[in-house]
Amino acid sequence: MQNVTDILSDEHRNIMGVIELILNECEEIEKGKAIDAAFFEQAIDFIKNYADKFHHAKEEDILFIAMLENEDCMHCNPVPVMLHEHEEGRDFVRGMEDGLSGSDKEKVIENARGYSFLLMDHIYKEDHILYPMAEQAIPEEEKEKILLQYDAVLKEHNTGGRISSYLNLLARA
Ligand SMILES: [Fe+2]
Ligand SMILES: [Fe+2]
Repeated sequence: MQNVTDILSDEHRNIMGVIELILNECEEIEKGKAIDAAFFEQAIDFIKNYADKFHHAKEEDILFIAMLENEDCMHCNPVPVMLHEHEEGRDFVRGMEDGLSGSDKEKVIENARGYSFLLMDHIYKEDHILYPMAEQAIPEEEKEKILLQYDAVLKEHNTGGRISSYLNLLARA
């Protein structure tokens, strides 16, 4: 039996690793550390390109579409809420960028924590509610196609080992 969400749950673990680094950094700033602009630039690059363009694109353009096509097989439709949360995440990232460019510690911390707590909750809901629903609702014959589409997304985003290089940030942990 094919499983189309394990690969996405594995990516969640990487995103959670970066969130842990972000929360630690916020704590350090509150204790008096100056904003480490290089760290935040790397973290934002990871969020935009790995968490959003790579991971969320697979959800939004592939998995969620397949779920909506099989909506009759679901007792409720969690996809609109998940999409809304992806948008909220993007707002927090814009807030972090504004905070960084204005060297506004409060704003950086507020938006970095906002993003982190939103994503922790979002990832919990996907791992425990949405992904199990997807595995049930999507017919087996469609799952093989989905895995091929994921491969295409990886090829598209991994030029020059770009995706693997995002994980370097985690080496700081
Ligand atoms: Fe998501
Ligand atoms: Fe996700």
